[in-house]
Amino acid sequence: MRRKIRISEVRELEGRAEAVNIDELRKDIHESPEYEGLPLRVLRNNSVVMFDVFVKAVDGFKRVAQKSSTVTSSLIENLINSKQEMIYTPSEQKEAVLGYVESNLNEIIYDREISQDQKSEVIYTTATDIAEELFSNPINTEAIQRTRGIIKPMLDSILSDNTTIDSLIAVSSYDYYTYTHSVDVSIYALGLGRELGLLPSTLNLLGEAGILHDVGKSQIDINIVNKPGRLGAEEFEQMKQHPGFSYQVLMQHGVKNPAIISGVRDHHEKLNGKGYPRGLKDGEISKFARIIAIADIFNALTTRRSYKPALTTFEALKIMKHDMAGELDEEMLKRFIYMMSGKHNS
Ligand SMILES: [Fe+2]
Repeated sequence: MRRKIRISEVRELEGRAEAVNIDELRKDIHESPEYEGLPLRVLRNNSVVMFDVFVKAVDGFKRVAQKSSTVTSSLIENLINSKQEMIYTPSEQKEAVLGYVESNLNEIIYDREISQDQKSEVIYTTATDIAEELFSNPINTEAIQRTRGIIKPMLDSILSDNTTIDSLIAVSSYDYYTYTHSVDVSIYALGLGRELGLLPSTLNLLGEAGILHDVGKSQIDINIVNKPGRLGAEEFEQMKQHPGFSYQVLMQHGVKNPAIISGVRDHHEKLNGKGYPRGLKDGEISKFARIIAIADIFNALTTRRSYKPALTTFEALKIMKHDMAGELDEEMLKRFIYMMSGKHNS
């Protein structure tokens, strides 16, 4: 379900294109599903790795650190000196790798040696892995807390560098999955929230609401959620229950913040009263719900599903501005368009 190839791997391939046959390298990566790549700098000095660490050598993958060993500064230096930029870990040890990255994320995002694109990729991969786990298991409080835990480093990274939003968007999934969508909505909501001048503490809550907004889909028949086609009337009626289910999940797992609750429960409401589940209007719809609605629709339009192509940013924004007039918060949409034009970086 994950992207077949990471941007850093593409870059690595392109960087070596003159020295070796690029098709051979591409083949090599595709034929090595048992390994996952990570930027070398993710390895932290004096940390214990609960997984094996490999690098790519001419004749295959070579192990440089064993599971349960401590990463030393000399190991990192040696790898840097031998021009290794990536490490590879066995896919079956993915859980341990994810736990390691997750617990070191606060250090990783402030490491000047790691490029912004690499940081964004690590953040995005970690966030989508966490969200995937949230949706693939019965919802439990720990899984919800883990989604909350990823928002802080993501937000810190967004607030510390103006280009983070763009690079997070660049690494986001082209295809639509419920778990990637949750992370994408969180990213767009944080970007828009920053444009609107929300305080960091408010943004933190907004990011959490974004990643949890569709959590109620876990209570809906999986065949409807993943249907490879448009929903029939009956199926759509069932689907419309998901914001209410999301609200119930939040209640059951102790998420009590009113801003998060309204953002999640009301993200399909429309200002003209034609949304669902409650048909709320204008001032009845909170700031969080308005922001998440924009992030949600934009991401749904710009990702590919089996029955529809992905629209371009321009096409999606045009539909949102013209065809959805009266449904979305006009001022917020204006700021969102401004953000997506890239002007916010200048
Ligand atoms: Fe939704």
